Amino acid sequence: MKIIRSPRQMQQALKIFRSRGRAVGFVPTMGALHLGHLSLIRRCRRDNDITVVSIFVNPAQFGPKEDLKKYPRPMKKDVLLCRQAGVDFIFYPRPAAMYPPEFKTYVYVEGLSGLLCGASRPGHFRGVATVVAKLFNIVNPDRAYFGQKDAQQAAVIRRMVSDLNFPVQVTVMPTVREKGGLALSSRNAYLSRQERQDALALSASLRLAKKMAGSGVRDAAKIISAMRRLIQSKGSSRIDYAAIVDPLSLQGLKRITEKCLVVLAVRIGTTRLIDNIIICPKN
Ligand code: PAJ
Repeated sequence: MKIIRSPRQMQQALKIFRSRGRAVGFVPTMGALHLGHLSLIRRCRRDNDITVVSIFVNPAQFGPKEDLKKYPRPMKKDVLLCRQAGVDFIFYPRPAAMYPPEFKTYVYVEGLSGLLCGASRPGHFRGVATVVAKLFNIVNPDRAYFGQKDAQQAAVIRRMVSDLNFPVQVTVMPTVREKGGLALSSRNAYLSRQERQDALALSASLRLAKKMAGSGVRDAAKIISAMRRLIQSKGSSRIDYAAIVDPLSLQGLKRITEKCLVVLAVRIGTTRLIDNIIICPKN
């Protein structure tokens, strides 16, 4: 396994494999790797000859009051996990190599970027789309892997790939959860033991939504209020949004008639967690 820090070297390193017709798969991450990331890496290895993982805590996607500084960076452990998982290259750029002082170009996916998480995190998806576009140009993968855990991010990336004709096939993998239901997230490290307990309300409320839809409830508002009641019964939680939306356009739905996405963002103490579930009412 090779660790590469310079964008130019990363571009060079893969040329030889591509010229030999090897398929390159790519998993972009911000590190603090967990089983969610590893599920993407595993799938990437299965589908491709070469697996590249990027580890970059992208400053452009953090707001001025967000956790850029305290975001966990357990690099040694991440390197070990990548090695054990059979990763071929880690791309680990310095922020100054990705965003030199003269940097001026951003990618903004209209519509999708301002909704849901975008409403309380202005600039976040501009930062995500920009860094993923840069990483795609640096790694030039045949396939790239993202998690359903960040459903809005996946929708933004799919739109960008299509709109800007990136020759990359995007695969979105299911959310990996702890036994109790909590979706794995690098930010779970911020939670106290009590908060971790309270955070179970997120996945519990999504299961409740699925159950209600399964038993024939079609009124989205009714399901959302039941979810809200469940989450609000936990002392440390504050709901940012709970919504039922179209999985591609992310527009709110009044009635559940087709495949839809139930999405949540909740602050547990000072930690903002997101989660979602896909519901197909017909099956
Ligand atoms: P990060 O939060 O490190 O996540 C990297 C990838 O892992 C994302 O595609 C995310 O959806 C996926 N992932 C996270 N938790 C998961 C879980 N529990 N189950 C399945 N997949 C999970 O998302 C980012 O980094 C950044 O925004 C990035 C795309 C790297 C751009 O900076």
